[in-house]
Amino acid sequence: MDKFVIQGGNPLIGKVTISGSKNSALPILAATLLTPEECIIHRVPDLSDIRYMLEILKFLGAQVHYEKGTVRVKNKMINWIAPYDLVRKMRASICILGPLIARCGKARVSLPGGCVIGDRPIDLHISGLQKLGANIDIIKGDVVAQGGQLRGTTINLRGPYGSTVLGTDNVMMAACRSEGTTIIEGAACEPEVEDLAKFLVSMGAKISGIGSQRLIIEGVKELHGSEYTIITDRIEAGTFAVGAAMTKGDLFLEQAPVNHMTSVLGKLQDCGVTIQVEENGLRVSRSGPLKAFEIVTSSYPGFPTDMQAQFCAMATIACGKSKVVENIFPNRFMHISELKRLGANIELSKNEVHIYGTERLSGAPVMASDLRASAALVLAGLVADNTTEVHRVYHIDRGYERIDEKLLSVGAMIKRVYSKT
Ligand code: EPU
Repeated sequence: MDKFVIQGGNPLIGKVTISGSKNSALPILAATLLTPEECIIHRVPDLSDIRYMLEILKFLGAQVHYEKGTVRVKNKMINWIAPYDLVRKMRASICILGPLIARCGKARVSLPGGCVIGDRPIDLHISGLQKLGANIDIIKGDVVAQGGQLRGTTINLRGPYGSTVLGTDNVMMAACRSEGTTIIEGAACEPEVEDLAKFLVSMGAKISGIGSQRLIIEGVKELHGSEYTIITDRIEAGTFAVGAAMTKGDLFLEQAPVNHMTSVLGKLQDCGVTIQVEENGLRVSRSGPLKAFEIVTSSYPGFPTDMQAQFCAMATIACGKSKVVENIFPNRFMHISELKRLGANIELSKNEVHIYGTERLSGAPVMASDLRASAALVLAGLVADNTTEVHRVYHIDRGYERIDEKLLSVGAMIKRVYSKT
């Protein structure tokens, strides 16, 4: 397994171009299953999660061509069974369920299972699709759906931890080809859900209330092919912004989706970081001290759970005591014990951490456990004394396009060491 070897101490200075959004691209690729016509999707990031999704589409019968960030996909005839070996690699593969039911009238998709960030139930996806008329059972670890005629109705997708992002995607995609009107209450408002809705509209879907908690979908008989460019990745941009803040750097984040980053940028400003919105991007720099902060994760437009680990890394070197409360995935703290290995002073209790900033971290070998936890360890390595080795970087390759090359180009001392196996 590849690892990163990072020599800390260099500020990040220069320009980074932000890639297309992983969490937009995945459901948008799944949505192409809704039509037999060709779809052309631009700005698709080259990530292992994207490759898994393309493998799933190919297994289902799609013709797929992926080159230079553009995917051409044609799902002429499709198979409705997605086996465990393909689905288990990536939780987001569950978002093929809605399109398969809508297009084939049936689907068999392995349950994706939990993951290190905690329990990842799909009860809201299932109850939403059932309300549309799908008969769904769990058989031998698979979600087995017999469509019947899907009919529009009112569905509430609010769960105990807020609205569900991929659940909203699944129900919205199925509703596009259901008979009559579907109203989704408690819809997730994340920019990636909005992006999927706009893609569906470009395919001929009739959706109003896009970007709000109430989506109204008039079902149509058919959707057609479309050409679409996805939004850029607010979490990648946020991660580089934290990198600039931690290293006392000065980064221009070209194509950063500034409008989608309000809560993260506001928090960085509170910490003493300078944010300048410029044409086609964002400049992030710091010259003064980094102040401690408090964050509480919540649904969009609140502070994103996908930036929590990176802010924990930042808190380890801020002046004073920071507090972080995780409300979306209460157990998403795998990075804490690894940050402690670098000398961070952190107390964890339930879904809350208190982080006491220290003058310096000291490099050590650490283990990446999930995508955002890995990003946090890389950020910590950039400011730690001596050498930090981040093992199992395949986690980071799932969601950050060429992060080592991008960091190297702005002054970081980072090297990927390829595994021999
Ligand atoms: N939940 C339920 N029932 C469900 C679905 C979710 O109780 O049926 C709960 C979850 O357990 C969690 C909360 O609702 O407590 C939110 O989960 P959500 O369904 O919104 O998460 P997701 O759709 O599976 C997406 C992103 C995640 C991101 C979350 C929250 C993709 C591919 N994944 O996951 O991204 O953290 O929304 O914003 O879009 C990442 O990129 O690192 C990542 C994990």
